[in-house]
Amino acid sequence: MNSFVEILSRWYALEGRDLPWRATRDPYLIWLSEVILQQTRVEQGTAYYMRFAERFPRVEFLAEASEDEVLKLWQGLGYYSRARNLHAAAQQIVGEWGGQFPRTLEEVRRLKGVGEYTAAAICSAAFDLPCAAVDGNVYRVLSRLYDVEEAIDSAAGKRTFRVLAEEMMRGARPSIHNQAMMDFGAMICTPRSPRCGECPLQDLCMARAAGTIEQRPVKNGRQKVRERWFNYLDLISEGRSVLVRRGAGDIWQGLYEFPLVERDKPLSLEELANCEEFKEWVGMDWTLKGKTALKPHRLSHQLLHAEVWQLEVMRFTPKAEASALDVAEIGQRAVPRLLELYLNKKG
Ligand code: ADE
Ligand code: SF4
Repeated sequence: MNSFVEILSRWYALEGRDLPWRATRDPYLIWLSEVILQQTRVEQGTAYYMRFAERFPRVEFLAEASEDEVLKLWQGLGYYSRARNLHAAAQQIVGEWGGQFPRTLEEVRRLKGVGEYTAAAICSAAFDLPCAAVDGNVYRVLSRLYDVEEAIDSAAGKRTFRVLAEEMMRGARPSIHNQAMMDFGAMICTPRSPRCGECPLQDLCMARAAGTIEQRPVKNGRQKVRERWFNYLDLISEGRSVLVRRGAGDIWQGLYEFPLVERDKPLSLEELANCEEFKEWVGMDWTLKGKTALKPHRLSHQLLHAEVWQLEVMRFTPKAEASALDVAEIGQRAVPRLLELYLNKKG
C-alpha cells in the first residue's frame, strides 16, 4: 500500500462520516444513494435517501410504484428526468436481471441515468471492484497531492487524473477508498481554504511543499469575459420615443432597444455627442434630461454595462423618425430584460 492510501484509510476510519448508505452492502440501496447524491449535497440528500429507502426497501417496490409517486418523493431535488431514469432503471433491473442488481462495471453503466462516476462509486462500494470514482472533488485533491499543473478541463488533464486515481486505487480497499476520497475532499481538502493544518497528508502533499495550493487545480476556464459598454439614446419628442430592432449576428436578435452607441469603454457626454451615430440619431439640437446607469448585465461570456441617456429633441432626425413609436406601442415590443426594468420604472 502506498502511504497516501494508508494514511487516508486510517484517517477515514477515525474521521469519516457515518452515512446511512455506508451501513449497507446492498447494491440497490447504494445505487439509490448515488443517484440522489448526483443531485444534491449530503446534508439534504440524506433525508431523501431515508424516505426512498423506507418506501422502497427493495428494487421491486420501486419498479412497481407509479411514476407519480416516484416524482412526488423526488420533489424538491429538481431535474426530474433523473427521477424518471431511476424508476426506469428499477424496471430494467427487475425485467432484465430478475431483480438481481448487475455485478460488473459495464452492466451497471448500462442502467438508465448511471454515468461513469456513479457506476464506479456503486461497484466499489457494493462489490469492492477496483474502480476509481473520479469527479471534480477527486481532481482537486489529486491536483494538490501531486501538484499537477495540467488543467482539469483539458482532455490531457482528464487522462492524467484518471491514471493517478487508478494508480492510487491499486492496493487500496475499493469500498473504503472512494468513500474516503469523497470525505477527504468534503472535509479537509475543500475547494476554498483547505484545512492543511489538520490534514493527515500535509507532509506528503506536493502542492503544499511547492506553495502552489492556491493555484490548484488549474482550470483553463471559460473564455475570457467580453466587456461591452452600451450607450442607449432614449430620445423623447412630444410623447414619442424611438426603438430599433436588433439584427442578426449578436445577442438579442429580434428584440427592440433604444438607438445604441456601443464602445469597449465608457463614454463621456462630450465623446458621445461628438460621435457619428449620435449625430445621426439625435441631430444637433438636444437637451440632456438625465442619465441612468443600468445594473451590469451578465451573459455567459459577456458583461454588459449600459447607460441610458435621456435626450429631449424638438424634432426627430429622419433616421429617428423612421423608428419613432408612441408610448402604447413601446409596451407592445419585446425588449431585453435590462431595458424592461428601465422602461417599467419609467412608467
Ligand atoms: N457524493 C456522491 N456519493 C457520495 C457518497 N457515497 N458519500 C458521500 N458523498 C457522496
Ligand atoms: Fe489538501 Fe492541504 Fe492536505 Fe494538501 S495539505 S492535501 S492542499 S488539505
